Amino acid sequence: MWPNDRFIKLCGVELPIIQAPMAGSALSDMVIAVSQAGGLGSLACALLSVEQARKELETIRGRTSRPISANFFCHHPPRDDRAREMNWRQRLDAYYIQLQADSNTAIPQSARAPFDEKMCDLVMEFHPEVVSFHFGLPDKNLLLRVKSGGAKILSTATTVDEARWLEDQGCDAIIAQGFEAGGHRGMFLTEDVSTQVGTMALVPQVVDAVKVPVIAAGGIADARGILAAFALGAAAVQIGTAYLHCPEAQISPLYRQALKSTRDNQTAITNVFTGRPARAIVNRFMREVGPMSDVAPEFPLAAAPLAPLRAKSEMAGSADFTPFWSGQAARLGRELSAAELTKQLAAEALANLRLLQTTK
Ligand SMILES: Cc1cc2nc3c(=O)[nH]c(=O)nc-3n(C[C@H](O)[C@H](O)[C@H](O)COP(=O)(O)O)c2cc1C
Repeated sequence: MWPNDRFIKLCGVELPIIQAPMAGSALSDMVIAVSQAGGLGSLACALLSVEQARKELETIRGRTSRPISANFFCHHPPRDDRAREMNWRQRLDAYYIQLQADSNTAIPQSARAPFDEKMCDLVMEFHPEVVSFHFGLPDKNLLLRVKSGGAKILSTATTVDEARWLEDQGCDAIIAQGFEAGGHRGMFLTEDVSTQVGTMALVPQVVDAVKVPVIAAGGIADARGILAAFALGAAAVQIGTAYLHCPEAQISPLYRQALKSTRDNQTAITNVFTGRPARAIVNRFMREVGPMSDVAPEFPLAAAPLAPLRAKSEMAGSADFTPFWSGQAARLGRELSAAELTKQLAAEALANLRLLQTTK
């Protein structure tokens, strides 16, 4: 028995384990495997067009009737700031020369568009049991539509203030994302990365501040982390980086290799890849231009000028300009199928829990 079953009951899942939405790295195969294993699989839609998201959701609904989550970014679109964009391009000039890259090369890219009417229509068509957001919440009308369709609403908080705000706006559960987490920080009421909070300190303070169930995220990669999250008052965990080791993760061999060898102190928070703070494995571009840069334009505008450099260096087998998003516990990951990982994490956490109870 789990010490806290509020999330399990809220979402109708067997296990209090959410496979984190991971834009660009996890699609239907991962979602299906985790949901079939009893956890909550999440489809990240931020980098997908409406048509791509429809295809993924059709595949998922065709292969599992278990609860799933669909996840969307809901940032404010960037302001027009030509001067800043010019500065960014100038900052990259030397790299273009060095790599003999052409800044006019058209590289197909996703828009990283915020949740909108069309994505909302898709949600109403497929009715994922859970809809989760990153960077706050969409506007009231869109949120009401999603809620009226019966989906439980989750969003990420990186501070107690953000958690309270999300609860006030009607979130059914809150993901407390600690500083250890891989990928983009969900922060939306603050831009100050230096005061972001670690999972150990954040989770109990959020638990004390809100009435809805709290989901711990950031640096959780094995049964010990899950147990700690429950001890801090969480009702579930959201795990990202550990799932990147699974064969279902759609990542390059270079990325997979890097995750295996990344040590605790080899990731950092950086804004140089997209314009928003996110945790990635430290590489040349982060070291030389960041990790935090005042010149990087607003999210997601930093990414496009980087794309030709990234393509050129990847062609040469290098990851100097590629973001390998990762949390601080990458090395705790195991190479198991997503279903096996989900089941093992749950079984080991429950076994450890029983052990703790009997040694009291
Ligand atoms: C590769 C990667 C991509 C991510 N993309 C998303 C995303 O699209 N939406 C989202 O809400 N969170 C995203 N996250 C953040 C996760 O939801 C979660 O906060 C994080 O993975 C937890 O920390 P961990 O990686 O240490 O487990 C991403 C994380 C990673 C590692």
